[in-house]
Amino acid sequence: MPTWRLRDFHDDDLDRAIQIWDQDRQTDDMPPVFPVSEAMAEARTGGTAVVAVVGEDLVGMAVAQAQGERAWITLVALARMWRNRGIGSALIAEIERRLRTQGVRRIGALLVPGTTGTTALENSGYRTRDGLTFYEKVEHLGASDAGLLAELGGRMLPQGLWGALAGMEREKEAIERRIVLPLAEPVLADRYGVTPPKAVILFGPPGTGKTSFAKAVASRLAWPFVELFPSRLTEGTAGGLAASLRDTFADLAELESVLLFIDEVEEIAGVRSGQAIDPGHGVTNELLKLIPGFRDQDNRLLICATNSVRSLDPAFLRPGRFDYVIPVGPPRPEGPGGDLAALPRPGRRRHQAAPTGVSQ
Ligand SMILES: Nc1ncnc2c1ncn2[C@@H]1O[C@H](COP(=O)(O)OP(=O)(O)O)[C@@H](O)[C@H]1O
Ligand SMILES: [Mg+2]
Repeated sequence: MPTWRLRDFHDDDLDRAIQIWDQDRQTDDMPPVFPVSEAMAEARTGGTAVVAVVGEDLVGMAVAQAQGERAWITLVALARMWRNRGIGSALIAEIERRLRTQGVRRIGALLVPGTTGTTALENSGYRTRDGLTFYEKVEHLGASDAGLLAELGGRMLPQGLWGALAGMEREKEAIERRIVLPLAEPVLADRYGVTPPKAVILFGPPGTGKTSFAKAVASRLAWPFVELFPSRLTEGTAGGLAASLRDTFADLAELESVLLFIDEVEEIAGVRSGQAIDPGHGVTNELLKLIPGFRDQDNRLLICATNSVRSLDPAFLRPGRFDYVIPVGPPRPEGPGGDLAALPRPGRRRHQAAPTGVSQ
């Protein structure tokens, strides 16, 4: 029987630590109070973090955050094979020892019932407090973002829109796996080499829920929702519609995070009619030019909706612009093979089969 020992967390442990944490994850309906990214950031910046190793292999980890006399255990994770062997309790005892030397006298933990840390805490003398309700308010917008968002006609949507989407299991599953999870867990996605999507096209007949999906994703990510109305781009400014679109994207770039929605994108990106004067043409080109810059920033997603992929300018489907084309709602009168189609991305890592945790 190999034996385990405890040691400090090193930066090299990150990959394995996230894998182990991921094995413990139950459902996304019950996200942890302390996101893994926060716990890992704490560990990497010299916070209280201890790992258990067997030989070179990392099999467990615990992290805590201390403020004065109070500390929170933010992560307890154990590799599946190494549960129920006292490693969890040993990790907690070591965390406690370290916290004590910093003057901590009260240690708390907020865990989803049934997750690994619960047993270890109970075995280490922690008592549950019943009759408490955990309140949380996440402030996603800085003061400067709020003004800018108002100017863009954007807003924060209420929580829970995702859960309110009825049926649509196939679409929900595809969007959850390919879009929501990689964006919601960027640290995890990065560790697995999954590139979060930056732009997707939803297509389907009117009334099938494309707008609802776009809003639900914004609600799920708690990102501000901005809808771009091609008809509201102003001709007035020098440079016309294209300049107006550029200004809008420049404003969007100032936001910390944003879901940009363009409904009936064919309006902007209609097939070039071949007429000598095509009023939409300049705007189409401008939008296509702006997408790479939009893609380069973190924490943003462009969702374009269209009734018909065929009516889109083919340039939209060329590599490097959109990550996925996702059909929404039966019947599916057209479209690439029916299921969610991934578009090629030149010069980027692309992983079709995301490993467990991101894909499941
Ligand atoms: N999955 C769904 N669950 C509940 N309501 C839905 C769902 N999909 C669509 N709806 C409702 O149907 C109507 C049309 O949906 P919408 O998202 O505007 O479709 P689209 O943008 O594809 O035209 C809206 O009132 C929306 O609330
Ligand atoms: Mg719509």
